[in-house]
Amino acid sequence: MSDDPQDKIIHEIDGIQEYDNKLPNWWLYTLYGTMVFAVGYWFHYHVGQFGEGPEAQYQVEVAKANAEQAARIKAAGVMTPEALAALVKDKGTVEQGKQVFAATCASCHRQDGGGVVGPNLTDEFWLHGGAPERVYKSIKDGIADKGMPAWMPVLGPDRVSAVTAYVISLRGTNVAGGKAPQGERESFSMRD
Ligand code: HEC
Repeated sequence: MSDDPQDKIIHEIDGIQEYDNKLPNWWLYTLYGTMVFAVGYWFHYHVGQFGEGPEAQYQVEVAKANAEQAARIKAAGVMTPEALAALVKDKGTVEQGKQVFAATCASCHRQDGGGVVGPNLTDEFWLHGGAPERVYKSIKDGIADKGMPAWMPVLGPDRVSAVTAYVISLRGTNVAGGKAPQGERESFSMRD
């Protein structure tokens, strides 16, 4: 191609000239690079789902924060309703509580909490209160003379708070074949 600028003119309308200037190579290759990257990105995150998207990463971060908060609460050992609500959000604590329940409580409350000798813990009826701090108290101190032992001296604070979190997570799940309701009906604003 000649270097004469006149050769580059591809349009001329009303005295306005449009040149066909070649784009510099660095610019073009950057453009092609972004296209290749976009296809690769799309394939990695959306088609193949090899990479974790922001949603999954967010869930991981939330789970980590919940676990850290649960550890702080257990170390402090003060079981306010808010503290118990936070423990219920930590999967690790609830899972620990589930194991304690299976080993220690299932003989009287059934494996799934549906109740045998002890009442159904999965319905919305409570003899001693279904609010988190009431459930905690029932488990910690037991119900003297009614066959529900006090668990704090047996299990210690860590396992008592974990099993409380698990029992709170069972509330209102109404397992099949559970024992008939006992006590007062309560509805809960805090359940997740
Ligand atoms: C030896 C049998 C027995 C074992 C073991 C037992 N419980 Fe109980 N539990 C009972 C009985 C009986 C009651 C009902 C007391 C009453 O009638 O007032 C009860 C009541 C409760 C309540 C109160 C329910 C309400 O309606 O207010 C909770 C919560 C509870 N148990 C949790 C647990 C947990 C958690 C464990 C294990 C750490 C456990 N129990 C182990 C027999 C047992």
